[in-house]
Formats: sequence, structure tokens, C-alpha cells
Amino acid sequence: MGFEDSLKIDKGILEKAKFNPYFMEVQSALGKTVKINHKNLISLGSNDYLGIANSKELKESAKKAIDKYGISMCGTPIVIGYTDLNKILESKIAKFLGFDDSLVFPSGYQANLGAFKFLAGKEDVIIVDEIAHSSVIQGARLCRAKLIKFAHNNTDELEQILKFCKKYRKRFIAVDGLYSTEGDIASLDIISELAKKYDAFTIVDDAHGIGILGKNGKGSLELKNVLGKIDMVTGSLGKALGCAGGFIATNSKVAEFFRYFCPPFVYSTALPPSIVAASIASLDLVEKSEAKRKRLYKNKEMLFNGLKEIGYNLTESDTPLFSIKSKEAQEIINLARDLYKKGVYATPFVPPSVPLGSSRLRLIPHAGLGDEEINTVIRIFKDLKSR
Ligand SMILES: Cc1ncc(COP(=O)(O)O)c(C=O)c1O
Repeated sequence: MGFEDSLKIDKGILEKAKFNPYFMEVQSALGKTVKINHKNLISLGSNDYLGIANSKELKESAKKAIDKYGISMCGTPIVIGYTDLNKILESKIAKFLGFDDSLVFPSGYQANLGAFKFLAGKEDVIIVDEIAHSSVIQGARLCRAKLIKFAHNNTDELEQILKFCKKYRKRFIAVDGLYSTEGDIASLDIISELAKKYDAFTIVDDAHGIGILGKNGKGSLELKNVLGKIDMVTGSLGKALGCAGGFIATNSKVAEFFRYFCPPFVYSTALPPSIVAASIASLDLVEKSEAKRKRLYKNKEMLFNGLKEIGYNLTESDTPLFSIKSKEAQEIINLARDLYKKGVYATPFVPPSVPLGSSRLRLIPHAGLGDEEINTVIRIFKDLKSR
């Protein structure tokens, strides 16, 4: 068998469903509907929670930046990629989340890949929630620290591990703020207390929380009242902020060190100025978006309650994202297919993206949708259940 022959993808469930929900071509901007494979669908699949990715405010700031700076600086931040806009964005993110400083990365994934390598060494331990995002786990694996997982959101188990890990130079606790397919939130209040008690450094990936949680959209830290009590937040600019890219916000000592030594930051072409400009505009917009957040939560309540009543098995979410669960990956792919045929797009997660037996269809009823679209979606789900 040749080397390439070992690179097999088992597409059995997709072939059985005669449907592939992945890499479908999108032919429009995000809105109440999205054109996918030349078909207008109500989308519950994008992370544009507040419905601002296609807003006038963001587009105009991006266009202005293109006129001034062109498409790209074609350089890494340490040499020619760091425009005055980058500096403004980094200060704004830091201020927004209550940190001394922040660094902007080409993606949230890269931010997490860079978070651990120069922070933790072989004399340290990283204790991570077992369902933290792939990039958090991969980032932790890039350094030489010992990696221990604790049961999802189980702070009793976390404390047991912390007790057992006193011999390490430093303990790092890494969690997601908002878990991206469950829709539940890390117990950051308890975690920050444990960190104090056991001298641990806390890292929260709040890619999904920022923009939608807390009165001002500052994320899980605001919601859990721990702004100023967490050591580092990583995040994405490509979700509720409606742009692209990622960041690390932390204290000035760590940030300055990362600025010179964090490889995914130092050695990768900086975000294009247009995206940086749109991200700056987005942070202003997000803070003023209370009405959009209200709409998002209303959509979630309507859809969640509607689907629960019909009998779907849902994750226990306290936030605007939730999933329909099934042990059977085939059932989830078939559901995504049937919804697609009836005009709704939602994101299926099947192994290896999620553990075996925990397939799910994630639904994000973004703030751009109104009662009419949510009621249409509920009716479609009802039709599918009663077949
Ligand atoms: C929890 C979490 N962290 C990090 C990322 C990566 O962010 P980005 O898409 O900006 O690379 C994602 C994206 O899916 C995510 O869900």
C-alpha cells in the first residue's frame, strides 16, 4: 500500500445520506437567508451571533482601510505588518476586557497555538477541561508541560488535581468560556478562586462568549463577574465580532514577551488592515449592541422551547447556542440533509470532531433573524419529527 493510500476518509455516513454538508459553496453575504449551493436558506450555522458581519459600519471601515493601506502589508507584525490600526485594535481589545495589553493574531486558532509554548515548560502542568476547543489542547501539547484533563466543568475534580499537582513549578488552568457545541459556561467564579488558592495561572478561550455574554458583551468573564481575576483570555474576531482573526489579552509582562517570542504571532503575516479596521469598528458596535443581544436571546428561547416541546434531545445550554444531540452520527447527518432540503442550514458535528456517541447538530439563531424566520424553522422541525 502506498503512503497516500493510508490517507483514507470514511465518508460512509455521507454516502448513505446522499448528502455532504461540508464545504458547500456559499454565494451570498450573511443575512436573514444565505445562498448556499444556489439555494436560499435560513442559516443557523454561522458564528455571526449578532448579525453584524455584513453591516454597513464594518464594511465601510474595511473599505476605508483598503483605500489607505491596500490589501495587505505583506509582512509579519514584528517587521512591516504592524500598522497604527493594529496598535489601536490591540489597545481596544485590552481595554474592553480589562487587561494591560493584547496581541492580534491571524486567527483564534493561532492565538491558542501560541498561548502555551513560551509560558509553560517541563516543570509545569496544564490542567484543561476535557472538551476545551481543539486549538487549546493542541496549543497545550506544543509545550513540554504535563497535560492533565479534568471532567467537563467539574470543579471538584479540578481541585483534586490541583492538590495533587502542588509539586509543579506552576499550574495552568485552561478552559473555554462558552463551550462551542454544548452552549454551557465555565464556572469561572469557582475556577478563579481555585487558581488563587493553588497558585495557578488561568487561561480562558472565550471565542464564543465575547460579544454575546454579559451586559456589555465582554463575554464569560463579565457574566461570571471575574473581569480582572483571570490571567489570560484568548479569543476570535471571527465570531460575534463579525470579522476574522484572533487575539491574546493578558498582563503587560507576558504580552511584551509574546510580542518577541510567540511564533504564531511573530512569524505569520499580520491580519490585513481592512480586517483590523473592521474589528475596531466592531468592538464599538458590540458594546452598543444590547438590543441585538436581546434579540439573540429571544431567538434562542423561542427555538429552544419550540424544539424541546416537539421532543428533540437538546444540550443544556444557558446561552444563545445549543445543539440537538444523538448517539448516532447518521441521524445527525440525515437531519442536516432534511433541514437543508426544506430551506434551513445548521452545522452537524460528528466524530472525530466530537467524541464517539455524542454527535450533534449545532444551532445558532443569530440576531438577524426575527419571529417569522424562527417560527418557520420550528415548523420545519415539527414537520420532520411527525413524518
Ligand atoms: C472555542 C473556540 N476557540 C477557538 C476557535 C478558533 O478561532 P478562529 O476561528 O478565529 O481560528 C474556535 C473556532 O471554531 C472555537 O470555537
